[in-house]
Amino acid sequence: MGYKEIYERSLADPEGFWMEQAESIDWVRKPSKALFDDNAPIYEWFSDGLVNTCWNAVDRHVEAGRGAQAAIIHDSPVTGTKHRISYAQLRSRVARLAGALRARGVEKGDRVIIYMPMVPEALEAMLACARIGAVHSVVFGGFAAHELAVRIDDCAPKCIIAASCGIEPGRVVHYKPLLDGAIEQAAHKPEFCVIFQREEEVARLIEGRDHDWHAFQYGVEPADCLPVEGNHPAYILYTSGTTGQPKGVVRATAGHLVALNWSMKNIYNVNPGEVFWAASDVGWVVGHSYICYGPLIHGNTTIVFEGKPVGTPDAGTFWRVISEHNVRSFFTAPTALRAIKREDPEAKELAKYDISNLRALYLAGERADPDTIQWAQRVMGVPVYDHWWQTETGWTIAGNPAGLEALPVKIGSPTVAMPGYDVRILDEGGHEVPPGTLGAIAIRLPLPPGTLPTLWNAEDRYRKSYLTTFPGYYETGDAGMKDEDGYLWIMARTDDVINVAGHRLSTGAMEEVLASHPDVAECAVIGAADELKGQIPVGFLCLSKGVNRPHAEIAAECVKLVREQIGPVAAFRQAVVVDRLPKTRSGKILRAIMVRIADGQDFKMPATIDDPAILDEIREALRGIGLARG
Ligand code: COA
Ligand code: AMP
Repeated sequence: MGYKEIYERSLADPEGFWMEQAESIDWVRKPSKALFDDNAPIYEWFSDGLVNTCWNAVDRHVEAGRGAQAAIIHDSPVTGTKHRISYAQLRSRVARLAGALRARGVEKGDRVIIYMPMVPEALEAMLACARIGAVHSVVFGGFAAHELAVRIDDCAPKCIIAASCGIEPGRVVHYKPLLDGAIEQAAHKPEFCVIFQREEEVARLIEGRDHDWHAFQYGVEPADCLPVEGNHPAYILYTSGTTGQPKGVVRATAGHLVALNWSMKNIYNVNPGEVFWAASDVGWVVGHSYICYGPLIHGNTTIVFEGKPVGTPDAGTFWRVISEHNVRSFFTAPTALRAIKREDPEAKELAKYDISNLRALYLAGERADPDTIQWAQRVMGVPVYDHWWQTETGWTIAGNPAGLEALPVKIGSPTVAMPGYDVRILDEGGHEVPPGTLGAIAIRLPLPPGTLPTLWNAEDRYRKSYLTTFPGYYETGDAGMKDEDGYLWIMARTDDVINVAGHRLSTGAMEEVLASHPDVAECAVIGAADELKGQIPVGFLCLSKGVNRPHAEIAAECVKLVREQIGPVAAFRQAVVVDRLPKTRSGKILRAIMVRIADGQDFKMPATIDDPAILDEIREALRGIGLARG
C-alpha cells in the first residue's frame, strides 16, 4: 500500500489502523480498543492497555538477542570523548538507577525533573523514570534558574536529577548553582537531588539533600519494569506559550510508543540495528522523541552528540559524526545547516569524509528556507525532507513518508499530512478555505496517538489554548495553506511564539521580564528576521516619566535581566528605547507592523492605527541597531 491508501485508511478506520500499528509494541495487557472518546473533546488512546516504555525501548531488544548492539553512542567533541553503550549495558544501568530511585521512595506517578546536558546519563535518567512509572520533566540547560523554578513549582517533583555542569563552547555552564538557585526560588522543595559529577566541574553537594550519582546507586536492587496503563503520563515537557507561564505538555505512554515506532521506518526510513542521529538536545521535543525514545523503541542505535555544528572544532563535525558512526538518517534544524553553510559555503570539510551510507536529511523545528535546502541537497547528495511538527504533537504532522513511499519534494513545503492528522486550513470564522488560500492551520479532532491529551494540571488552559477557537479542531498556532496536491505550506505563527535558532520562545514571557525593570513603563518584543537564527528577539522600551538615565544603560540592563530570568537561550541581545509604541485606537500594540518594519518589508497602514507618525520613530530606532533596511 502506498501513502495515499494508508493515509485515507487512517482517517476512515482509525480503530483498525492504530490497533494494527499497536501490534509492534510489547504489551503486558493488550488494549481492548484504540480510541477512548468518552470525555471528548479530550481524547485518549489505548487507555486500558498495560505496558512499559522502558521494556519496549531497552529490555525487549536484549531479550530478542540484540544485547550487544550499541544502543547509545556518545560523541562529545567538547570534552574530547566518545563511548558506546550496548543495549545489555543500558538495561543494567537503567535498572540500577531505577532501583535506587525506588529505594528512595520514587513511585509510579511521582514527578522527577531532569536537568542535564547531552550525556547518555540524561537518557538513562529518562528511561529509569519510565521503568518505574515516574513522570519525568526534562529542562533544557540553556534556561536560567528562574525558568527551572517555574517548572519545579508547576510539576512539584519528588526528586531532581542533574549534572554538575554542561559545556558550551568557551564556557562551562554551572548547572549546580543554577539548580540550587532554582530550588531556593521555588515554593515547592524536592525531597532529594541526584548529581552526576562530571570531570570538567565537580559540584559541591548539600548534605542530606544531594546524592552523588554513583554512591546513590551503590548496592541497590535493580528495578524491573512496572506495567502502567496506556493513558499514564510518560512525561511532561514544558514549552513556550504566549505568557511567562510555560505550558506543560503531557505525553501519554501507549500512544507515544505506537506512534514513534511507526515513524522510525515510515518517515525516517531506518531498519532496526541501523544508526539514527538527531542533532538536537534532550531538553526539546526532538530530543525526547528522536534522541531517546523513537530510535530505542525501534531498536536503532542513537547518537548523543555534545557539540555544535560549527566551532567544535570546525564546520566538518557533523560530516565526521555521520561518517564515523555510519549514520543512515540524520535529523537537524535548518539553523545548524545555515551555520555550517556560512562558515564553509563550498563544503570543503565534507570532502574529507565519506557519508555515502547516509540515506536522507530531515529538517524541522523552524521554517526551512529554500536556499538552505538546495545547498544541503547539492553538497550532501541525499534527499532533504522538511517536516513540520510541534512539542504538542510529539511527532510529524506533515512530512515525506520516505520509508513508505518517497513523494516528490516541493521545496518550501514539508509535504503531506501523516496518518491520523486531518489537517484543514480555516478562515477566521472556522470555514475551510480553497486550496492555495492562506488561513489558520487546524487539525480535526481527535489528534492521532502520541500527541498531547492535555496540559499538566491545566485542562482548562488546554481547552482554551487549543480547542476553543475552532470547535472540533486542534488549533496549531501556525498559519499556512494547502495546495491542489494536498501539500502543506507553513508560513508563520499566529501567536506570540517566535523561533530563534530552532528554539521556541515566547515574546510575551520576555515582555513580562522587561516590564519588571523599574524604569520601564511599557514594552513590546518582536521576532525580527535573522539570516542565521531565522528570528531574533528585539525589545522596545518606553520609559517611565522622569527617568533620564542614558538609554543605552537601561537597554543593557534589560538585556542582562532577560538572560538572568529566562536564560542565554533567549538570545535577547537588542533593546531600543522609544517614546511610544504603535497602537490601534483601542490600545492594541501593532507588533505585526513592527515586524514588517524591522524586516524592511512593505505594509498596509492599518485603518485602526492611533498615530501613524510613531512608525517613523520605530523605523529610526530599528535602523540604529542595523535593522529596518530594505
Ligand atoms: N546550555 C546552556 N547554554 C546554552 C545551551 C545549553 N544547552 N544551548 C545554547 N546555549 C547558550 C549559548 O551558549 C549562547 O550563549 P551566549 O549568549 O553566552 O553565547 C546562547 O544560549 C544562545 O545560543 P544559540 O541561539 O544557540 O546561539 P549560538 O550562537 O550559541 O549557536 C547555532 C548558533 C546555530 C550554532 C546553534 O543555535 C545551533 O546549533 N542551533 C541548532 C539548534 C537545534 O538543534 N535545535 C533543536 C530543535 S530541533
Ligand atoms: P516546537 O514546539 O519547539 O517544536 O516548535 C513548533 C513550531 O515550530 C511550529 O508550530 C512551527 O511554528 C515551527 N516549525 C516546526 N517545524 C517547522 C517546519 N518544518 N516548517 C515551518 N515551521 C516549523
